Parts: sequence; C-alpha cells; structure tokens
Amino acid sequence: MLIQLYLLLLLQIFSCFSIETKSKLNFDEFFNYTTFPLLKFSSTGRHLLIQTKRPSWNTNSYENTLWLYDIQNQTKKFITTNLRTSIQPQWSPSGNYIVFLSKNHSSINKRQSEEYIYLYSLGSDTVLPIQIGKETPLALTWSNNDSSIYLAVKSIDKENDLWKDVIQYRENVIRKTSIIYRIDFNSNNRSLPVEKSLIRNVSFLINQLLYTSFEEKLIFSSASAVRENLDDFELYFINLRNMSALSKLTNNEIIETALQLSIDGQHLFFLSLHRSSNKKLFNNTQNRLYSINLANGIITRFGEHFDGSIDGYTIESDAGVYILGQLGTEIQIYSRQLSKKDLIHHNGWNGTYESIVSSYNQRLIAFVYSSLEKPMEVYFVDNISQLISAKAITNENYLFTQRNLPKTKVYNWRNEDDHRVIEGLLHYPPEKFQSKNLPLLVLIHGGPYAASLNRLNLAWNNWAPLAVSEGWLVFEPNYRGSTGYGDQFLSEIRAKPLSRPGKDILCGVDQLIKDGIVDPYKLAVGGFSYGGFLTNWLITQTKRFNVALSAAGAVDFTSTWGMMDIPALISYLYGGFPWEVPHIYQNEAPIYHLDKVRTPTHIVTGENDVRVPTSQSYILERGLRYLDIPVKLITFPKEGHSLSINPWHGKIKVREELKWLQQYGNQSLNRDKSNNSERQKFTYALQLYMFFFSLVIIKNI
Ligand SMILES: *[C@@H]1O[C@H](CO)[C@@H](O)[C@H](O)[C@H]1NC(C)=O
Ligand SMILES: *[C@@H]1O[C@H](CO)[C@@H](O)[C@H](O)[C@H]1NC(C)=O
Ligand SMILES: *[C@@H]1O[C@H](CO)[C@@H](O)[C@H](O)[C@H]1NC(C)=O
Ligand SMILES: *[C@@H]1O[C@H](CO)[C@@H](O)[C@H](O)[C@H]1NC(C)=O
Ligand SMILES: *[C@@H]1O[C@H](CO)[C@@H](O)[C@H](O)[C@H]1NC(C)=O
Ligand SMILES: *[C@@H]1O[C@H](CO)[C@@H](O)[C@H](O)[C@H]1NC(C)=O
Ligand SMILES: *[C@@H]1O[C@H](CO)[C@@H](O)[C@H](O)[C@H]1NC(C)=O
Ligand SMILES: *[C@@H]1O[C@H](CO)[C@@H](O)[C@H](O)[C@H]1NC(C)=O
Ligand SMILES: *[C@@H]1O[C@H](CO)[C@@H](O)[C@H](O)[C@H]1NC(C)=O
Ligand SMILES: *[C@@H]1O[C@H](CO)[C@@H](O)[C@H](O)[C@H]1NC(C)=O
Ligand SMILES: *[C@@H]1O[C@H](CO)[C@@H](O)[C@H](O)[C@H]1NC(C)=O
Ligand SMILES: *[C@@H]1O[C@H](CO)[C@@H](O)[C@H](O)[C@H]1NC(C)=O
Repeated sequence: MLIQLYLLLLLQIFSCFSIETKSKLNFDEFFNYTTFPLLKFSSTGRHLLIQTKRPSWNTNSYENTLWLYDIQNQTKKFITTNLRTSIQPQWSPSGNYIVFLSKNHSSINKRQSEEYIYLYSLGSDTVLPIQIGKETPLALTWSNNDSSIYLAVKSIDKENDLWKDVIQYRENVIRKTSIIYRIDFNSNNRSLPVEKSLIRNVSFLINQLLYTSFEEKLIFSSASAVRENLDDFELYFINLRNMSALSKLTNNEIIETALQLSIDGQHLFFLSLHRSSNKKLFNNTQNRLYSINLANGIITRFGEHFDGSIDGYTIESDAGVYILGQLGTEIQIYSRQLSKKDLIHHNGWNGTYESIVSSYNQRLIAFVYSSLEKPMEVYFVDNISQLISAKAITNENYLFTQRNLPKTKVYNWRNEDDHRVIEGLLHYPPEKFQSKNLPLLVLIHGGPYAASLNRLNLAWNNWAPLAVSEGWLVFEPNYRGSTGYGDQFLSEIRAKPLSRPGKDILCGVDQLIKDGIVDPYKLAVGGFSYGGFLTNWLITQTKRFNVALSAAGAVDFTSTWGMMDIPALISYLYGGFPWEVPHIYQNEAPIYHLDKVRTPTHIVTGENDVRVPTSQSYILERGLRYLDIPVKLITFPKEGHSLSINPWHGKIKVREELKWLQQYGNQSLNRDKSNNSERQKFTYALQLYMFFFSLVIIKNI
C-alpha cells in the first residue's frame, strides 16, 4: 500500500517534472513540420481525403501525400505520395473514385511530353494512370456521374519558323488559349483508352472548372499569369446543350477564387480578392464571400457587417454556410443562415481554423486547427455547437507538443501621427515571459494584405519560434494594410505604402522601449516580401537597428512595377502609375535614401522570383557595398518567390539569418561612427584611374 502511494507520488513528481522541462525546439526539428493543404469529404460522407505536405530531405523536394480517412472505422489509408498540386484532387459523384495529378509523369521540365491524370478506385485500392495528351492540364471537374470528366488544358504555342526561338512577349508569355475536353471512361474497363472530345476553345486561361446539372452548365473562372488588368479575372459559363455561346457572369475588379456550387447546383459561391487596377474609383478590400444565382445572375454578399477578412467557407446545407473569418490575430468559425444577415460566431478554441469542409448529409465538419501553443492537426466534429470537443484525427506534429514553444501575447500601441491603434504579437522565450530589457527582433509579415496570427505554421518565412529559442523577443506588427482590422485599415496604406506602415512599426518599437520590455541597443529587423520592402525602408529611416534581414525585398518601385507579376498592386498602393505620381515613387523607395543606412544587412532572393524581381536584391547589395555597409546576398537557384521547390533552401536561409543576427545583432554599437576607410580607398582609386584615363585621352588628341 505504502509502496503504491510512493510510486504514485514518484509518478506525479515525474510528470510535473516532464511538463516543466519540455526540451528546446532544435533547428532541424523546426523544419520537419507537416501542414495539411487540403481536406475533402466524399459525397457519401463516409470518407475524408487528407493531403499532407512535408519536406523530403533526401529528394530535395516537398512531399505531398494523399490519405483516405474512413470516418466510421477511424482508419487512414495511403493513396499516393508525389501529388502534383496544380489541380486539387476531386471526388467522383458516387464517392467511388478520386482523380488527381501526380509528379510521376509531369512535364514540368520536359516540353511536350505526354500528360496523365490518375484515377484512384476505392473499391480495388488501385491507381490507374490515364494519358490525356501533350497539353498542360489547367483544371478539371467530374460530370454528373462517374463516367466522364471535363478537362481544361493550355493550348500549345504553334511553332513559327519566322521567329525561331524569339519570344513575342504578349503572344507567347501572356496571351493564352484554353481548350476544354470531355474525357469519357470506358465504364466496363477503366484501363481501356479513353475517348477525348473537344468541347470548345476559349481565349483565356481557365483557373477553375465546375459542372452543374442545373441546366447542364460548365462554369469556369479565367486567370492571367500577370495581374495587370483585372478584367482578366472573371466568371463564365457555357451551356452544354449549346456550346457555342459563352456567357460572362461577372464584370468587376474582383479576383474570384475558391468556387463551390450550392447543393442544388443553382448558386455559385466564391471568395473575392478585391484588387483595383487603378483604372476605376475602387478600393482594395479584405476577402469577401459572395454567391451568384445562376438562374438570374443576382449576386449576394455574405457577412457584410463582418469587419474582418473571410478566408474560407463550406456549404452547410441549402440554408447556410460556415465561414472562416479573420478578426485581429484569430481565425474563427462563423455561420450564416440564408434568412439572416449577421454572422454567428461558433465558440471554439482561441487560434486559427482553416480548410473547413462539411458533409451535409452526415452533418460532419472537418478542419485544420492550430494556435501558437498547439501544432496543426486535422479535427472533426459532428455538431457545430460542440466545437470545443472536436477530436484530432491526425498526429503528424506530435513532436512539437513535446517542445518548448514561445509564450505569446497580443500587444497594442498607437501611431503618434494619427493615433491609430495598431496591434501585434510578442513572442517571449518561454523562460522569460513578461521579462524586461530583452533583445528584440521585429519580424514583418508579407502581403501587405495578410496578418501575423495566433497560428502555428513553422516555416522559413515564419520562424519566430526559432529566433525565440535563441533568446530573442520577437515582435510581429500587424501594420497598416494588414487584414483583420477593417477595410479602412487597408486603405490607409495607399499613397504612403512604406512610410505609414513603417511609422506604425517604429512607434511599436518606441512603445516597447518605453515599457522597458526591450533593450534599445539590441534591435534587429527582418521580413519577407512586403516585410522585406518594409525592412529595406526602415533601415533608411533609422540607425537604431543593429542588423537587418531582407528577404525578397524591393528598393525601387518603378522597376518593381515594370517587372513583377502583380503590377496592379503597386500602381494601386502608390496611388497611380510612375508617370502620374513620380514624387511618391521617389519618396517611398529605399534606393533614393540608401546613403542613410548603417545597418549590416543580409539579403536573400529566389533566382526566378517574378513576384518581387531578383534584381531588387542585387541593387540593394550593390548600393550597400558602395556605401561600405556589411552586406551579404544569397540566391536560391530555380526558386521563385515562395522557395517551394527545395526545402534545403528555406533551411539554409534561416541558418544564415540566425548567423547574421548573432554576428551583428547582439551588441550595442553606435553605428553613426561608421568606418569609412574602405570608401575613401575606393574614391582614391577612382581618382587615380580618372587621372590616367584623362592622360590617355589627351595623348590621343
Ligand atoms: C525529420 O523527419 C524525418 C522523417 O520522419 C525523420 O527521419 C527525421 O529524423 C526527422 N528529423 C528531426 C530532426 O526530427
Ligand atoms: C470498416 O469496417 C467495416 C466493418 O468492420 C468493414 O466491413 C469495412 O471493410 C471497413 N472499411 C475499411 C475501409 O476498412
Ligand atoms: C509513381 O511512381 C512510383 C515509382 O515508380 C510508383 O510506385 C507509384 O505507384 C507511382 N504513382 C502513381 C500515382 O502512379
Ligand atoms: C452518365 O451521364 C451521361 C450524360 O447524362 C449519360 O449519357 C451516361 O449514360 C451516364 N453514365 C452512367 C454510367 O450512368
Ligand atoms: C481491361 O483492359 C486491359 C487492357 O486492355 C486488360 O489487360 C484487362 O484484362 C481488362 N480488364 C478487364 C476486367 O476486362
Ligand atoms: C481549338 O484549339 C485547337 C488547338 O489549338 C485547334 O486544333 C482547334 O482547331 C481549335 N478549335 C476551334 C473550334 O477553334
Ligand atoms: C446556340 O447559341 C447561339 C449563340 O447564342 C444561338 O445563336 C443559337 O440559336 C443557339 N442554338 C440553340 C439550338 O439554341
Ligand atoms: C477609398 O478610400 C478612401 C479613403 O482611403 C475614400 O476617401 C474613398 O472614398 C474610397 N473610395 C471608394 C470608391 O470607396
Ligand atoms: C481567447 O481570446 C480572448 C480574446 O483575445 C481572450 O479574452 C480569452 O481570454 C482567450 N481565451 C483563452 C482560453 O485563452
Ligand atoms: C448539438 O449540440 C447542442 C449543444 O450541446 C445540442 O443542443 C444539440 O441538440 C446538438 N445537436 C445535435 C443534432 O445533436
Ligand atoms: C547576447 O549576448 C549575451 C552575452 O554574451 C548572451 O548572454 C545572450 O544570450 C545573447 N543574446 C542573444 C539573443 O544572442
Ligand atoms: C576601419 O577599417 C580598416 C580597414 O578595413 C581597419 O584597418 C580599421 O581598423 C578600421 N577602423 C575601425 C575604427 O574599425
């Protein structure tokens, strides 16, 4: 008896002990995080399709795997790894098949090789590759039954002898034609070759394709590789009984995404990104949810009184939808009954819900949930009123529940110019929660239409927990332009695209110093994309930062506008084209203020980045080198903006940034007394050279 008591006591002591000494999150573990890009219920509600994404260090790539979760048996079955993510997997109408794309036969590198779609049969647990021709698939949808799918492909440019390999930019790069086919399977034997029939061609790229049996329509959204003109992004349909007529459903400055049909097939739902191309009197807004009545074309907005951003939704029934709404630093589940205007908040856990799906006939809801204290997993629940008792059905990130994560709190301050209240997150080293006089790293989110959230997404562009485990207090400001604080908050960045959010951030740093939270002599700043724009700007505005980490940033916005794939954003934010408001392009650009920089700066860029052109990082590197500021640029081969090809690239990025932080960040230097001897040497050499050069010229004359 006594021994039992003793053991119990020992056990309790041991468990207390183990809770308090969770080990430190190490660098390699940090990069082993799994995310869940897609969830989808089958039409019967018996199965949930789950996609996981994780780095594959041996193959220098990311692995996207599909799993089939059986709701009743609570078992998970592997379908495929190597998923190609350009088109989402789709359940067949009966729930007996899944169609998807794979990297196995991908023509990403080989031009004009055969393309395949893959058919997974639940009955036989087999995958069947199906040849679909040489054109790149853009979108696909099942028809009303399992016998056929509709497929949109990109038409192949015709060889033209006159032009050889010369690119005519508008014709070859931007203008594209899509072709829609119907593919009929042989329903007796799906291994037999398919029948492919042309439906019609359209003169734009198709982004998403949907079939509705309501008046037998094929609905699609158009897109363009370059976001210059928002007329390139609209919704269309064709009537399958008369395919010659192409009808346009929208004509607006909205990018329509995440298309879904109502259960009766008569309403088309979509999320909107309102992005003005500066031609019309129109403001960029947060994401919204709309539906179009396909019978009469009437458009309805959902949640118009909601002040935040709508980031996802799923159709609950003919009477309502569940909505993922971002307000401040949280994304929560709301619902909207068709008869009522206001959204109802469903009480869940604090944090971020994403990828919500529902199975209306079984009344099941599945979602991905995480918070800064809890790693991402997939959950499901059979009653929305009981969200707080949702059960996790995956355990991919268990390791992170055993590690010491930062302790985080929301922090508020005011911009001293216009007294706007700004919010941000403070991530403390767990053992130093609420301590004073800490070294500070300001990590600035991209976008600008995004926000730092109560969400755990460990990644190379979201590495506050790693910086924290190295002893930094990390401050993530939701500066002007961030979502979750109303549409007006977004518009206040316009015509002051760097100076106003820059001031928001600097006022936050001032407040942290005033509150005694940070050591004013140990300040660092960094960010990716728009966070890189702001990092480059801030080091021209103050010498207070010991160190800067500039990732995919820009320094000149005329050339950025001319080169990037979303120029409409720049002309909107700058309040006009470069020739209309040249003073804004000049005043709000780090390149023209670079001589004020004293901060050692680490720069990274992807070699093929077309979102923020690589050249911007080279300009910054050259400028800082001329000015004798310690600077280092690293470039990731083949990568675009999001370093999505090789996981080692993101890992090396953060490794080098941490080194730079350690080298320059943790020392109280007065950067005003910079060492100019390098520059003097250079000037002297230049003068000497000019002198000899002029002698040569004189002699020749
Ligand atoms: C990362 O994940 C792989 C695959 O599960 C595992 O083999 C490896 O040990 C993990 N590395 C760390 C540092 O956790
Ligand atoms: C689920 O369980 C039932 C009954 O035990 C069984 O008949 C069925 O085959 C199982 N399904 C799967 C996918 O394992
Ligand atoms: C892809 O190729 C691998 C290896 O050749 C094979 O095991 C796998 O089944 C293939 N996947 C698909 C979806 O065909
Ligand atoms: C599928 O639908 C098409 C068009 O409605 C029809 O012609 C075909 O017979 C159907 N196939 C099956 C197996 O029901
Ligand atoms: C289906 O067709 C393939 C290829 O012709 C053949 O090998 C296979 O035996 C057929 N299967 C059935 C069930 O008829
Ligand atoms: C559609 O495009 C294809 C490939 O470019 C072409 O062969 C076909 O003639 C076009 N069809 C129509 C109806 O324009
Ligand atoms: C098909 O649509 C075209 C173009 O709108 C129209 O001229 C034609 O009359 C329609 N045909 C039928 C059979 O409805
Ligand atoms: C856009 O926002 C500005 C304020 O930033 C406001 O003055 C203007 O009226 C808005 N325009 C429209 C069309 O809503
Ligand atoms: C959830 O967030 C709200 C608002 O930020 C806060 O008042 C509340 O205390 C939080 N609840 C928990 C359990 O952390
Ligand atoms: C869902 O949960 C609520 C609150 O616990 C309960 O009142 C309601 O009856 C439940 N609904 C169903 C369909 O079980
Ligand atoms: C800064 O340096 C001090 C003294 O060397 C050290 O104790 C501290 O951990 C360092 N902090 C960071 C964030 O590197
Ligand atoms: C300035 O730089 C030169 C050469 O780069 C070096 O020799 C000298 O010690 C530096 N002076 C100071 C004060 O750091």
